[in-house]
Amino acid sequence: MKVLVSASSRYGSTAEIAQVVAEVLRSDGLDVSVVEPGAVESLETFDAVVLGSAVYTGHWLAPAIGLAERVGREIPGRPVWLFSSGPVGDPSRKLVQQMGADPVDLPALFQATRARGHRMLAGKLDSHKLRGLQRAALFIMRGIEGDFRDWDAVRSWAQSIADVLLATPAAPRSR
Ligand SMILES: Cc1cc2nc3c(=O)[nH]c(=O)nc-3n(C[C@H](O)[C@H](O)[C@H](O)COP(=O)(O)O)c2cc1C
Repeated sequence: MKVLVSASSRYGSTAEIAQVVAEVLRSDGLDVSVVEPGAVESLETFDAVVLGSAVYTGHWLAPAIGLAERVGREIPGRPVWLFSSGPVGDPSRKLVQQMGADPVDLPALFQATRARGHRMLAGKLDSHKLRGLQRAALFIMRGIEGDFRDWDAVRSWAQSIADVLLATPAAPRSR
């Protein structure tokens, strides 16, 4: 079974999550390609898709939204899972909880892909990489810098996907 793992990332931390998801799926014997959303050519060769994006001001990044639309059009019916990477900071803070709300685009993403699920995963924020307005936003929202990614949560979510895929026969492909 061939699986596409694809994620839009501005500063690389969501791309690293995609790599760990891929490692878990591979360790279960699945044939996994990790390709950025804008670089995906044919979708037809994939039996399943795990698609994610970093969240900025409540939204997925455009290339990941574009790929979700393509998945819905080009390979309708194949299993899809979505993840968002975003919340940073102490999860007991109200601001951080608000940050962790589902991205605004989620209903449309579900509608396009008929995804089987969505997982919000904690993110990473490095102020040195930010410029201009984003850096100013960080100044206002002090205390949210750092790497909050929970690798156990990433791995167990990926394992739950592998378990479903290993119990699913590959879809017949039109050639
Ligand atoms: C200006 C700005 C806005 C952000 N908005 C959100 C948001 O609305 N929700 C959220 O969960 N995370 C938000 N974040 C946190 C990022 O999603 C987080 O840092 C993520 O891990 C970045 O991933 P990347 O390195 O792949 O770009 C924001 C970060 C910045 C700098």
